[in-house]
Amino acid sequence: MYIFKTAVVGAGAMGAEIAQVISSNGLPVVLKDIDQQLVDRGMRSIERLYRERVSRGKMTAQELRDKMDLVMPTTSYNDFADVDFAIEAVPENMAVKKAVFAELDNFCPRQAVLASNTSCLSISEMAAATMRPGRVVGFHFFNPASVMKLVEIIPGRETSEETVATSLEFAQSLRKIPVQVKECPGFLVNRVLMAGLMELLRFNEESRASAEEIDGVLREAVGLPMGPFLLADMLGLDVVHDVARTLETAYGDRFRAPATLRKLVENHHLGVKSGEGFYKYTR
Ligand SMILES: NC(=O)c1ccc[n+]([C@@H]2O[C@H](COP(=O)([O-])OP(=O)(O)OC[C@H]3O[C@@H](n4cnc5c(N)ncnc54)[C@H](O)[C@@H]3O)[C@@H](O)[C@H]2O)c1
Repeated sequence: MYIFKTAVVGAGAMGAEIAQVISSNGLPVVLKDIDQQLVDRGMRSIERLYRERVSRGKMTAQELRDKMDLVMPTTSYNDFADVDFAIEAVPENMAVKKAVFAELDNFCPRQAVLASNTSCLSISEMAAATMRPGRVVGFHFFNPASVMKLVEIIPGRETSEETVATSLEFAQSLRKIPVQVKECPGFLVNRVLMAGLMELLRFNEESRASAEEIDGVLREAVGLPMGPFLLADMLGLDVVHDVARTLETAYGDRFRAPATLRKLVENHHLGVKSGEGFYKYTR
C-alpha cells in the first residue's frame, strides 16, 4: 500500500519528532493535539530541529520552509479523511489511547493503517477499540526519533500480514531500520533496557558509586554512547517509572522501581524536562 498522506496525534516530545521525520522524507503530515498552544509548541520543536540542520549547512532556509509546509497543525480531525497512515503519540495511558483509536477509526478512511507509538502497552487492546483490528499495529520509535534509526513493528493478535508489510515498508521509506517483534509488555528494547536500568539503580543504591561514576565507567569501559542514568533523564523519569510499573505488573519484582527512582519522581525531579533528575540541567 502506498502512503500519500500521514497523521500524528499528540504533538509532544515524540509526536513532534515523528512529524519531523515524516516531513523531512517529503510526505505530508497532519499534526494534532488537544489545543492550539500544544500544537504550536510541537511546531516550534519541529522548526528547531530543522533550524539546527540549516545552521550546520545541511539544508537551506528555503528547504526548511518547504519541509515545514508539509506539516499541517490542527486541533480537529477535519483533515484526516484522506490519511493513509496515522500514528498516535499521546500519553502512555490505555484509556487515553483507546479513546484516540476510536476517534481515528471514525475519521480515517477504512483502509488506513492506525499505528501506536506506545512504549509497552497492548496493541491488541487498542485495536479492540476500533472496527479494523487487522489494520492496527505498533510502530515504536525511540527518543530522539529524528536521530534513532530503530523502529519496532509490533503486530497485535489480529493485525494482518498486509498491515505488517505496509508498516515495514513505510518505516524503511522514512530511512529507519524496522524490526518486527512479538507483542508482549515492553516489546524487545524496553524489556532489555528497563531490566538493565533497574539493576543499575539497585547497584547505585547498594554501592558508593554515583550515577555519574557508573555512567562514566559504562561509557569508557563498555563503550556505550551515553550513560544509562543520563539516558533515563532524557527519556523522563516519570516515563521510566510508568514503564517500570507496567513491566512489574507483567513480569514481577525484577522490574520494581527502586526507591531512588520513586523519590525523584515524587519530588518532580523528572530529568531534563524538569531541570533535575540524576543530573542538574540549566535551561
Ligand atoms: N518520551 C520518550 O522517550 C518515548 C520514547 C518512545 C515512545 N514513547 C511513547 O510515545 C508516547 C508519547 O510520549 P511523549 O513522551 O511524546 O509524551 P508527551 O507527554 O510529551 O506528549 C503527549 C502529547 O499528547 C497530547 N494529547 C493528550 N491527549 C490527546 C488527545 N486525546 N488527542 C491529541 N493529543 C493528545 C498531549 O497534549 C501531549 O502534547 C507514549 O506512548 C510514550 O510511551 C515515549
